[in-house]
Amino acid sequence: MATNRTFTMIKPDAVKNGHTGAILNDIIKGGFKIVAMKYTSLTKETAGAFYAVHKERGFYGELVDFMSSGPIVAAILEKDNAVEDFRKLIGATDPKKAEVGTIRNKYAESIEANAVHGSDSDENAEIEGNFYFSALERF
Ligand code: TYD
Repeated sequence: MATNRTFTMIKPDAVKNGHTGAILNDIIKGGFKIVAMKYTSLTKETAGAFYAVHKERGFYGELVDFMSSGPIVAAILEKDNAVEDFRKLIGATDPKKAEVGTIRNKYAESIEANAVHGSDSDENAEIEGNFYFSALERF
């Protein structure tokens, strides 16, 4: 059963390039309600833990370095069918393959510096939201 929440991060490239406001605007215009949000950053340790599922992949070390390279914005979003609809809004992992008009098409630099994260399942949305936010920090 699809739940109605997903988790996102605006990644260091997009924050650094001044796209935070535009991306939040696209998210809200896309019908998502922000139920928790914080401006924060990851250390190598916390980035490594967040992406532990990719530990064996060749890009893991660089991904951890990139994700801990500057501030991010983390948020929990609510909408019917949130996980699937948000992945449609952000587009393919590789911005060269992301549909025109999607957030990654508009704001990402590369497959690694790809502007935003979006959970890939309801289960991971729950785990990732809990990684950043306590019960007191969300509506
Ligand atoms: P993945 O879960 O495959 O993509 P998505 O974020 O679209 O769910 O990969 C997680 C992140 O790892 C991805 O957003 C960027 C990074 N990554 C690379 O740096 N190089 C790669 O070749 C891939 C597949 C991902």
